[in-house]
Amino acid sequence: MYDELINKAIQARENSYAPYSEFYVGAALLTKEGEIFTGCNIENAAYSPGNCAERTAIFKAVSEGYKNFEAIAIIGGRSEGEIQYAFPCGVCRQVMMEFCDPDTFSIIVVKSKDDYMVKTLKELLPYGFGNDNLKKD
Ligand code: THU
Repeated sequence: MYDELINKAIQARENSYAPYSEFYVGAALLTKEGEIFTGCNIENAAYSPGNCAERTAIFKAVSEGYKNFEAIAIIGGRSEGEIQYAFPCGVCRQVMMEFCDPDTFSIIVVKSKDDYMVKTLKELLPYGFGNDNLKKD
């Protein structure tokens, strides 16, 4: 079901720019329209300007006019032989909260194309703060 998304995340990891952590991450984001946007982590010598793979993919999609998302596949690890499940960081979960329905948005954490785990955003960010909280009545 998630084959294409997982393959695209694996491919996107090839472009990871992570000379400092040597932790290489790829992500592939599926929009409700069926488009896929990929991303990788992009580090920086000054450290804090670095960006995670998930946010790269989400920001690429939003900047192209897509704001409704179905699922994201993520794969991260130091080298080919050492892939463990790499769950999204807190900042990326909060960015997902901005655009995704926590009850249905699927986060696919990948070890390999045959070994992955699927969680909803709500499972990874329970009681999340979102735009609903800022609604005036
Ligand atoms: N990283 C991601 O790209 N996604 C995550 O969810 C966790 C961490 C990146 C940031 C940094 O470039 C490297 O992995 C080590 O933290």
